[in-house]
Amino acid sequence: TDKTEGKVTYKSPSNIALVKYWGKKEHQIPANPSISFTLDTCATTTTVSYKKLNNKASDFSFDLLFDGRSKEDFKPKISTFLKRTEKYLPFLKSYHFTIETSNSFPHSSGIASSASGMSALALCLMELERELNPNMDSAFFKRKASFLARLGSGSACRSIEGNLMQWGAQKDTQESSDLYAIKYPYKVNPIFNNYQDSILLVDKGSKQVSSSLGHDLMHDHPFAEQRFDQAHKNLTKLKRIFEEGDLLEFIKIVESEALTLHAMMMTSMPYFILMKPNTLEIINKIWAFRESSKTHVCFTLDAGANVHVLYPENEKEKVYQFINNELVAYCENGQYICDQIGNGAEKL
Ligand code: PMV
Repeated sequence: TDKTEGKVTYKSPSNIALVKYWGKKEHQIPANPSISFTLDTCATTTTVSYKKLNNKASDFSFDLLFDGRSKEDFKPKISTFLKRTEKYLPFLKSYHFTIETSNSFPHSSGIASSASGMSALALCLMELERELNPNMDSAFFKRKASFLARLGSGSACRSIEGNLMQWGAQKDTQESSDLYAIKYPYKVNPIFNNYQDSILLVDKGSKQVSSSLGHDLMHDHPFAEQRFDQAHKNLTKLKRIFEEGDLLEFIKIVESEALTLHAMMMTSMPYFILMKPNTLEIINKIWAFRESSKTHVCFTLDAGANVHVLYPENEKEKVYQFINNELVAYCENGQYICDQIGNGAEKL
């Protein structure tokens, strides 16, 4: 089959890990399995226009537009992604691509766009792959899209579908793989339906430690083996917790995972403190509120200062009030984003 030109658009969400991926082997293989909520509102929309070249080029040929403007500084990341995926998408050098991308969340909010961005791009390229191989079934399509997204940014492989995704082989989880993410295959209690994530933007400007440097710090890390082992154990524990909807135990694992991620950074060489004073203020407020309100609000963190506030949908009113009354003061310019667990990427 031949396809001379065309255009495809995908919208793909970000995701927030509950058990964190931190540390990797060669070829974007995770050092431990991870699990995440796919988000809904925080997403990247990417359009790829493709045009067949007369002759296969010696290098990748693409333009990149971010919010309608050409964006040279993102090009090396895309080139690296194309290099890694060419083996699996042999047509890449036969086309010129125009990649237009934009995020639903504010620019430089400290919300990483690599998961949403790389998954959206992987899906667009897979769509062309499907045009060239029309017999591909949809399960294979999604699996390969997740596989390719992983090569762009590890956590991106968890954004293709929703709403609870596992990436990384684990003996207790059937069919789990280091190569791509799967929908969590076990029973999940309805208390997790529409689970809420309000993202408090604590520090929008400051440079986070790049995740590639962060993963590297887990090589030769004094606590690496214990940490990887802990991630396995936490996944095992979550199986019952998800099934029974045991929110008290859920909270313990999620908050411990967030603090462990930061503890790994504090105890690596070189070491980093990625929380800000307001991150700690918010954590303390959440603990006090949880105690006094008898709600199940908890926090998790990425590799940065922003706080993700997680809670079940039926506690939304109470927690919104709490955020407005007590937490907004600790957000930069009072900014936060209310999101919730979502169903994954969609073709537009
Ligand atoms: O996908 P990367 O290489 O940007 O790593 C993401 C790492 C964390 O966000 C800190 C944790 C995770 O599992 O998403």
